[in-house]
Amino acid sequence: MEQRRKIVAGNWKMHKTIPEAMEWARSFRMEPMTSGSVQVVLFPPFTALNSLVVELGSAQLELGAQDIYPGSFGAVTGEVSGAMLRDAGARWVLIGHSERRQYFNESHGLLEAKLRGALEWGLHPVYCVGESLYEREQGVHFEVVATQMKEVMGSLDEKQAERVVIAYEPVWAIGTGKTASALEAEEMHAFIRGEMAAMWGGVSGQIPILYGGSVKPSNAAQLFRCPNIDGALVGGASLDPDEFRAIVLSV
Ligand code: PGA
Repeated sequence: MEQRRKIVAGNWKMHKTIPEAMEWARSFRMEPMTSGSVQVVLFPPFTALNSLVVELGSAQLELGAQDIYPGSFGAVTGEVSGAMLRDAGARWVLIGHSERRQYFNESHGLLEAKLRGALEWGLHPVYCVGESLYEREQGVHFEVVATQMKEVMGSLDEKQAERVVIAYEPVWAIGTGKTASALEAEEMHAFIRGEMAAMWGGVSGQIPILYGGSVKPSNAAQLFRCPNIDGALVGGASLDPDEFRAIVLSV
């Protein structure tokens, strides 16, 4: 089996002021993680991004943004471009998180543009996919995820695809305390890998697929044992440096 990168990423969503972020960073630095084989990424709010880059450097973890605007600059009030994210020290960016799809109606066309914009600026996109509870109950979850993959990533070539990380986040498991069982998650991850193989052939074996949705220190190890689960995108539990560290160390 191919050796894929292991990644544990924290998504703070709309949490933490700059002083709170600094406190997290100091606590995180005091007890360095010994697991050098895992890439750790943190997605704070835009406002705390640069202070964290300065406080943490890049030795322990890399920083990313929770969103991106596809263009470089211009009259687009309220948006932040890839150029600005690079400037602030971001190396990664989340694209297609279900909260953005749901609350801001982000379309597949827009997500594709964001993905391309991120790649142009040399950022690593983490592209999120996942079905709602209704879609799972209707038995269309594979179809939903296949569409999210094809419509947004279908036009990428192998070289571009290689730079993307996928996060499977079933919407019903996000922030609900309900995790997909390791079996359910692995089944979907294997399906996603199959879809990627159909699009890009051998390269698909190198692309990490993270699981997201109520990952905690108590369930992380079991998920990480699955052959197609290459790490996690952690929301709530990443707000506490000790919990986040425990998840990283479970890989
Ligand atoms: P959660 O969020 O870990 O709080 O469920 C995960 C996510 O939305 O990325």
